Amino acid sequence: MALGGGAWRCGACHWAGHGILQGVTTDREPANTSTPSAGLVVALDGPGSSGKSTVGAEAARRLGYRFCDTGLLYRAVTWLALERGVAPTDVAGLVPLVAEVRLVADARGRLRHVHAGGRDVTAEVREAGVDRAVSDYARVPELRSALVTRQREIAARGGIIMAGRDIGTVILPAAPVKIYLDASAEERAKRRAVQRKTTDTLEEDQILADLRRRDDIDTTRETAPLRTAPDAVTVRTDGNSFEETVAAVVRTIRDAAGRRAAEAQAAGGCRGR
Ligand code: DC
Repeated sequence: MALGGGAWRCGACHWAGHGILQGVTTDREPANTSTPSAGLVVALDGPGSSGKSTVGAEAARRLGYRFCDTGLLYRAVTWLALERGVAPTDVAGLVPLVAEVRLVADARGRLRHVHAGGRDVTAEVREAGVDRAVSDYARVPELRSALVTRQREIAARGGIIMAGRDIGTVILPAAPVKIYLDASAEERAKRRAVQRKTTDTLEEDQILADLRRRDDIDTTRETAPLRTAPDAVTVRTDGNSFEETVAAVVRTIRDAAGRRAAEAQAAGGCRGR
């Protein structure tokens, strides 16, 4: 599919190429970056298909927090790059694509949709072609630095669960709550196969091989590799139901919020004495 320039207008989002999206809330609006909101900043990291996006979004809903899936930024840039034939080695061609990517909020303020090059590509960025290529793009240091400020601006208001690979280690190292969601490659591949509605064993084997390859690139890249932050709470999800994992994440965040409130109260009490 050919993507047009500024003249092309998307019926769903009113995007006019380089303009501002109307009628939808995106991560590029000042209101999304400046007004402080109640709640902590939560870094939620973990490997591909560990459930960060679905678990994080549901935990955010229960807590009344915002949610941001940063993987969508890397996926959307990758999708655009593949559309336009920009290779991961073409840094000069790659970095400007960042300006064409917008995260879009759902009705609950969760940044779970993505527009790129003027259209909603939320479904496309989850397809196998992007899955296979995204780690090769996400390892490019210049692309990563172009996305750092963007992610920090989104988190600045607080009251957010931000999911990714380097949120607790690089993007928000001072986050008061860090959670590392983990599961074996086999379990994650099974979940991905269910998502894709496939029962073909050859395709399942391919999904597992692709996941292992992505894990390898994500954990060994030079810039911001996937690591558990030393102060992160690890939540292992093998054998867990979705509900159990969401409950563990919500509990971890509530406990941290409770501890902070008690500390603040104690500090206030000491000052008052
Ligand atoms: O979480 P995900 O599978 O949607 O992430 C897609 C890719 O983007 C993955 O290969 C790693 C990369 N990524 C990253 O490097 N840093 C992030 N904060 C989020 C994702």
